[in-house]
Amino acid sequence: MDYQSLIVTYEDGIATITINRERALNALNKVVFSELRHFFSVEGPAQENLSGVIITGAGEKAFAAGADIKEFAGLNAEKAMALSQYGHEVFFMIEQFPKPVIAAVNGFSLGGGCELAMACHMRIAGAKARFGQPEVNLGLTPGYAGTQRLIQLIGKSKAMELLLTADMIKADEALSLGLVNHVVEQGEEVAKAKEILMKIGTKAPLAVAKVIECVNAYFDKTADGFEHEVKSFGLLAETEDFVEGAKAFVEKRKAVFKGK
Ligand code: CAA
Repeated sequence: MDYQSLIVTYEDGIATITINRERALNALNKVVFSELRHFFSVEGPAQENLSGVIITGAGEKAFAAGADIKEFAGLNAEKAMALSQYGHEVFFMIEQFPKPVIAAVNGFSLGGGCELAMACHMRIAGAKARFGQPEVNLGLTPGYAGTQRLIQLIGKSKAMELLLTADMIKADEALSLGLVNHVVEQGEEVAKAKEILMKIGTKAPLAVAKVIECVNAYFDKTADGFEHEVKSFGLLAETEDFVEGAKAFVEKRKAVFKGK
């Protein structure tokens, strides 16, 4: 598909999605949302040999500076709830995508931008990345699940502080809080994300998808994550890749997985 606000490229089985609104600090407008939705529901699932996805922002200043505040004009309760619900749905698609999705955070990651990064399975920050949930400055709460995922990632005390003060934190602090997985030199975020995805790409794809499901199930109040793990373990035991993985171990060679 020809995207208007995303650039999607493929290399080595990895899709890199660049939010391409540099002049607006890659603010997440309706077009970005509908294009992300298209990628994660149509284009991504249709790729046969996809092993992972990287999301980053165009330019050197921002990953995404939040929801597009200029689209907030004329919001009422009904429209705001629909906007929030839609954002939740798209970010759930990312969180539940069966291939690993890594945010390569190259600059400001604020409000909806921080929420997008948190919906990804991992986050790599460049040294100049800045994180925050500044919605209380605008008279709002976060709307794309920032109040929920920030707690999941860094715990209630620090999440409460960041959400209430709207403080912006630097990459090193984000690392010490567990908000990001790695901090790298500025400009190296995508390369580091790719290195991790290449490693995961050598593993059994169905097992990778089940790990994502099981980890997500822990946070799903309607699911029993322990039960989900038992079932996943059972399902995977009947896959060709499990037979190959165990055989390769015994034969002291690298397994060749087929995703079957
Ligand atoms: N929405 C729309 N436009 C934005 C934007 C946003 N979230 N953030 C930045 N921009 C635009 C600016 O309006 C400006 O455009 P113009 O040149 O046309 O005026 C351009 O990007 C550059 O921004 P600044 O001149 O402000 O750049 P700066 O370096 O002085 O400041 C910044 C950078 C600190 C990130 C500042 O832009 C800022 O505070 N942005 C808003 C951050 C924010 O409040 N995000 C939360 C949004 S609400 C939300 O996300 C709710 C939700 O959960 C659903």
